[in-house]
Amino acid sequence: MDGSNEDILATETFVQQAMDIIMEDVVRKAGDTRGKVCEWRSPEDLKELLDLELRPDGEAHARTLQRCRDAIGYSIKTHHPHFFNQLYVGVDPYAMVGAFITDATQPSQYTYEMAPVHSLIEDVVLGKMMELMGWTEGGDGIFNPGGSMSNMYAINLARFQHCPNIKELGLSASPRMVLFTSEEAHYSVVKGAAFLGMGTKNVYMVPSDQRGKMISVELEKQIQAAKLEGAVPFMVLATAGTTVLGSFDPIEELADVCEQHNLWLHVDACWGGAVAVSSRHKHLLAGIHRAKSVAWNPHKMLMAGQQCSAFLVRDKTGLLHRCHSADASYLFQKDKFYDLSYDSGDKSVQCARKADVFRFWLMWKALGTRVLELRVDRALDTARYLTEEVKKREGFRLLMEPEYANVCFWYIPPSLRNIPESPEFWQKVHVVAPKVKERMLKKGSLMVGYQTHRDKVNFFRMIVISPLVGPTHMDFVLDEIHRLGADL
Ligand SMILES: Cc1ncc(COP(=O)(O)O)c(C=O)c1O
Repeated sequence: MDGSNEDILATETFVQQAMDIIMEDVVRKAGDTRGKVCEWRSPEDLKELLDLELRPDGEAHARTLQRCRDAIGYSIKTHHPHFFNQLYVGVDPYAMVGAFITDATQPSQYTYEMAPVHSLIEDVVLGKMMELMGWTEGGDGIFNPGGSMSNMYAINLARFQHCPNIKELGLSASPRMVLFTSEEAHYSVVKGAAFLGMGTKNVYMVPSDQRGKMISVELEKQIQAAKLEGAVPFMVLATAGTTVLGSFDPIEELADVCEQHNLWLHVDACWGGAVAVSSRHKHLLAGIHRAKSVAWNPHKMLMAGQQCSAFLVRDKTGLLHRCHSADASYLFQKDKFYDLSYDSGDKSVQCARKADVFRFWLMWKALGTRVLELRVDRALDTARYLTEEVKKREGFRLLMEPEYANVCFWYIPPSLRNIPESPEFWQKVHVVAPKVKERMLKKGSLMVGYQTHRDKVNFFRMIVISPLVGPTHMDFVLDEIHRLGADL
């Protein structure tokens, strides 16, 4: 690029043509079931196909545009109505435009000076999310690149509150501190404990019941046991919407235990937080107003696009800032002429911070809370329909009644339907889901996750989110799994 008129024109044309490709190959195809969910290629074949090598000389725009088409073509179609593989699906169109705008304008959310629009928006969105948590007095918070980060913030903050010296003196200033979470919690808790120097063995795993909910009596026992060992309990990390089963921990009961032992209660509502917008389903979060912090990912159920995660803190004394601040004098000057409370950057462990909040705000503004509520209700109705179908259909077995949008089930092919349920039977069932998954990927017809869980052999985990899917898509899923696995 040399800044000449021809150059500027060529750049404009390129951007326009690239946008046309996005419109044609992504946006228009979003609700279309005719195309494939994925164009499966082995890593070797895909490397060959994409010509990934970086060279001294650049390429013509036509070639670059083809590379854009190829990148879209061989990417997973997360917008496709047959994509149910993860705890997110595609991106809402308003949120997508929001992402384009932040990518085009490149604000960096450390100071009001560098991100005036986004600093104000972050404040408003966090405030609204806290209101939905029932935090009538408000609080504090920050948007992070992902729920794992938000959970790590929670651990760091709770630990700092319990042992403020740790910021300056490090781990040598702290006793052996332990936190409690359930066996069903997201793995970011264990990673966070390792990353923050606590040690994974200092994450005490509290048993959960058959429905995947943390058992408060067991929590109480483990706290007592930890104290007898001489360890210092400081935090309980509950989950609202677990990754595999979609279970909600009993927050009220856990809050009672935390209050009794003076422990920080964090609720990982990355997945389940979305029910806060639904009058029908918000009861699942009962007690969350008593949490000291919450992690909530609008990029999951609400489709705000990756990555968009809010860490909310009920504290109003500036704890988040005190915990993470480093007072860089080139960014956070104390003698600026504007209200410094909008310089949120020193609450963060990052320096440059993408304005993830903008696409969520734009979508929320465009749709209103009422449409977000309808979407959550619709997803849960569709998950309910799927559950009833699984129960009705021969050859399908429900793992447990879902509470949320995770529907877990086994497919039993005809060859196994009339044999007794011995360990051998379950070993045979165990190999069905991976085989069906391989076939669906190679055919490109469907994407559904599978896994083992505790003593359960491989099963399918369907995640229902998109407002574009309904009963016919659920019927397709079960029919397709049967088509792909009937001969096994
Ligand atoms: C319950 C729960 N918490 C946290 C996370 C981590 O979120 P992220 O993928 O944004 O790091 C996940 C991810 O699926 C999750 O299911």
